[in-house]
Amino acid sequence: MNIFSTISDTVKTLDQYRNEGKAIGFVPTMGALHDGHLDLMRRAKKENDVLVVSIFVNPIQFNNPDDLKKYPRDLEKDKKSLEEINCDLLFSPEVNEMYPETVDYKYDFGKLENVMEGAFRPGHFNGVAIVVKKLFDIIGPDKAYFGEKDYQQLAIIKKLVEMENIPVQIVTCPTVREKDGLAMSSRNERLTAEERAIAPFIFQALNDAKSHINEMVPEEIKFRLQNQFADQPHFELEYFEIADDRELQPVINWNKAPGIRGFMAVQLGNVRLIDNIRII
Ligand code: PAF
Repeated sequence: MNIFSTISDTVKTLDQYRNEGKAIGFVPTMGALHDGHLDLMRRAKKENDVLVVSIFVNPIQFNNPDDLKKYPRDLEKDKKSLEEINCDLLFSPEVNEMYPETVDYKYDFGKLENVMEGAFRPGHFNGVAIVVKKLFDIIGPDKAYFGEKDYQQLAIIKKLVEMENIPVQIVTCPTVREKDGLAMSSRNERLTAEERAIAPFIFQALNDAKSHINEMVPEEIKFRLQNQFADQPHFELEYFEIADDRELQPVINWNKAPGIRGFMAVQLGNVRLIDNIRII
């Protein structure tokens, strides 16, 4: 596996692959790799000639400095996992390499960025879009792979690709879950044993919401779920939203079905977790 921290080395090697007519599959990450990441990578490896992974904890997408400081990092362990799945190239730059100057570009994603994660994490998606655009410019992938766990991020990236005419195919992959239903996330590492034991309640609550669509309207389901969380002392529900799966706008009835999802963000101890499932 080639491991590069500079843009020039990465571009040079990728140009060689391209000259040889090789298709490039790309999985951007912030490291602390888990099976959810590896699942995207295995698929990218299977569907392309070359697998490129980036590991970069992007400071400009964190609206909370403490979250950035505590974000799990273990580059040596990540490298071993990447070797095991035969990754061809790891791009792992320092902050100065990606941002030699202050970045102040402001994207406008319209309605998409004003709900849920966009509303609760101001500036987050702008930071994601800036880094993803930059990574796409450096890597020039044929296909890039993203998980549905970060469904709103995926919608933002699809919009970015459309707005900037980036010649890449975005491949959507289903959320990978632990056996007890908890969506895999690098942040799960930061849960205490007690918190980890109760964390599957998030997925259970989403499924409970889904099971009531025949007898309740979205508002009633939201009320039911909020009450369930009010009875859970360790969880703080940030939002639960029932929204269409394209514009991610809240729905008041089931008319937009099929294509409605339930989205949730909770604080569990010091860890913020998000999850979503298709409802109809
Ligand atoms: O989903 C992530 O890990 C990050 O938001 C991404 C897409 C790598 C951008 O930093």
